[in-house]
Amino acid sequence: MTVAVRSFAKINLGLYIGPPRPDGFHDLRTVYQTIALHDVIRVSVGRGAGFEIRCEDPRVPCDESNTCHRIAARVMQEVGAKGKVTIEIEKRLPVQGGLGAASSNAVATMIALERALKKSLTGVARLRIAAEVGSDLPLFLIGGTVLGMGRGEEVYPLPDLPPTAMVVVTPEVGVSTPKAFADWDALVARGQSPVPPQNPQLTHSAASDRLIEVSRVLSAWLSGSPNTGAPAKGGSRAGSLLLDLVRTGIENDFERVVFPQHPELRDIKRALERAGARYASLSGSGSALYGLCASRADAAKAAIRLRKQGLKAVATSTLTRRQYWKSF
Ligand code: C5P
Repeated sequence: MTVAVRSFAKINLGLYIGPPRPDGFHDLRTVYQTIALHDVIRVSVGRGAGFEIRCEDPRVPCDESNTCHRIAARVMQEVGAKGKVTIEIEKRLPVQGGLGAASSNAVATMIALERALKKSLTGVARLRIAAEVGSDLPLFLIGGTVLGMGRGEEVYPLPDLPPTAMVVVTPEVGVSTPKAFADWDALVARGQSPVPPQNPQLTHSAASDRLIEVSRVLSAWLSGSPNTGAPAKGGSRAGSLLLDLVRTGIENDFERVVFPQHPELRDIKRALERAGARYASLSGSGSALYGLCASRADAAKAAIRLRKQGLKAVATSTLTRRQYWKSF
């Protein structure tokens, strides 16, 4: 039996990088949001042993470095199952695009493999295995609007933002996430980041203080008022949550290191704004950029305009948690 599931992409609504940790990772704060763009993953278990990855996209490694291979091996071990696992990746999302495709593919593999084996892992085991494979995997076990802390693997469901029309631009450039983090550290060391330049010890504590401040802003946003934290008066806040978040002045720290190296990406952010996006940003470490729009019609118009400028642009929408699991 082959089990097919969709593997949705994510964007980051703000991303703040903290100090490097002894384990080589960086503490961060981000709001992840799942979106409707997706790959398709097909998993089957047959006689024999081992793992086979099939993908027509030559940029996707089909060996044991593939996140789908790594997670499938862990799941087989965890449930004590035997057999040959075949995973087919129908690639539509960009590789190294900042849309979390490789992470999402791995989580989709885990869920499809459980279904193929007719075995169920506990929620805690799923989150643990996902975090072992990569920082950006656990968010896909929650879906919708998700708060990411720690190295990004510590995830908490947030109240869902309303489905929002958007445009995604996927430039033909891959950005290495480890390199982007290293470039951020160099920027901090040169005193060119939002973290005040001081001696390394103080720089670390300033970076931590900044994350704590970001948490306060997010907390105030969630509790009702971006300014005071007081509960919002009357009516549903759903419609204004996203705008409130944007008004808090969310930023993606990676833009500070990725834009100088790829100035064309900064130009695309401006093009998104000119095409009518209410808020435009790099997603993760890029190279994909997105623009949030007021309506589906606005997103469609913006995508057409950007394609006329020679960009690979597609109109899509954010996915709430319920939509995410319904369409899985
Ligand atoms: O967890 P993941 O495999 O996605 O991380 C890839 C690399 O990105 C890590 O080895 C590390 O160099 C860098 N990283 C980091 N801080 C994070 C997440 C990733 O420095 N929070």
